Amino acid sequence: MWYNTGMKTIIEQIDNTQMNMEIIEKAGDILKEGGLVAFPTETVYGLGADALNEQAAKKIYAAKGRPSDNPLIVHIADMSALDRITEEMPKEAEKVAEAFWPGPLTMILKKSREVPAGTTGGLETVAVRMPDHVIAQEVIRAGGGYIAAPSANTSGRPSPTEARHVAADLNGKIDMILDGGAVEIGVESTILDMTVTPPMILRPGAVTKGMLEALIGEVAVDNTLTDPDSKKPPKAPGMKYRHYAPRAELVVVDGMMDAVVDEINRLVKEKTDAGCKVGVIGTQETVDRYRTGDIKCIGTRTDETTIACRLYGILREFDSDGVEFIYSEAFASDGIGSAVMNRLLKAAGHRVIYTSR
Ligand code: TXA
Ligand code: MG
Repeated sequence: MWYNTGMKTIIEQIDNTQMNMEIIEKAGDILKEGGLVAFPTETVYGLGADALNEQAAKKIYAAKGRPSDNPLIVHIADMSALDRITEEMPKEAEKVAEAFWPGPLTMILKKSREVPAGTTGGLETVAVRMPDHVIAQEVIRAGGGYIAAPSANTSGRPSPTEARHVAADLNGKIDMILDGGAVEIGVESTILDMTVTPPMILRPGAVTKGMLEALIGEVAVDNTLTDPDSKKPPKAPGMKYRHYAPRAELVVVDGMMDAVVDEINRLVKEKTDAGCKVGVIGTQETVDRYRTGDIKCIGTRTDETTIACRLYGILREFDSDGVEFIYSEAFASDGIGSAVMNRLLKAAGHRVIYTSR
């Protein structure tokens, strides 16, 4: 049996420009025998298992400590793989696939009988994604073509954007980690439900509402995502958990830039004077204006993809630094910023301070 706690996790470096096919084949063999392999994608690292093998998919839940009602995304590497796992492919879904696959987009489709309940959390639908990363694609093919892969973190921790984040959470609990360097995007894929009209975004990501609407017209957004007080459960079961959370108490400070900087400086001083270790998330535009605390620059406001890329890594760094409170600036909430703010607010448990001046 491949999985048991305290097992030795094989860690292999792999270069996507000069791929070592022996390592890929070994990863494929582990997956085909029902084991767990973590691998890079363009969004975050995934924890892979054979999606059509119920026992293998179940091991994912055990290794991550993930609630079993939270369904998995099935990753494919080729369009021809869709037939076997979906009942029907609506015309619009085909259009979306053509435009955005391979890429950071997951579609919810009607599932076929071949997809076990252990993969979909008992739902009649299946989440499908074709990642835009050569290592991911080769691992998927070598592993049989259908790989269930949630983010490769312990449930509730920030998603991993580097192999060492995976190792910190899952070393000794999975069979193999493929280290392909840091990911490119840094937040999980957009989830688009194609089983409803109009199609609905269940999780924002790098493929934005605007990009989808330009292609297929009206697209709705699951409003439980934007309303933290909503009594309704979110449509993607995973979105209800307090995800992405650092160990420290995180607070987002929103308002005009100058007022935000002043308020964060005030809050940091208050906590530091009380003897607490405090972290600050600033941007290239503001970082020089913070005076005390563990100050980190997340990226630049002129290119929010830099902020998406650093978010989870920074939250993990604050954990290693042992900070007890983190104050973060808020970011623009359009484009990929909507994905950034969605993850940041979840990590903050929706604690936001609005400043005005
Ligand atoms: O970028 C990504 O999507 C990454 C990489 C590894 O590909 N994967 C990822 O998986 O983020 P995970 O398991 O962390 O998130 C999957 C989300 C969860 O919120 C889950 O509830 C939702 O997708 N989901 C899966 N199947 C679903 C379904 N049939 N209906 C609605 N939501 C579904
Ligand atoms: Mg996740």
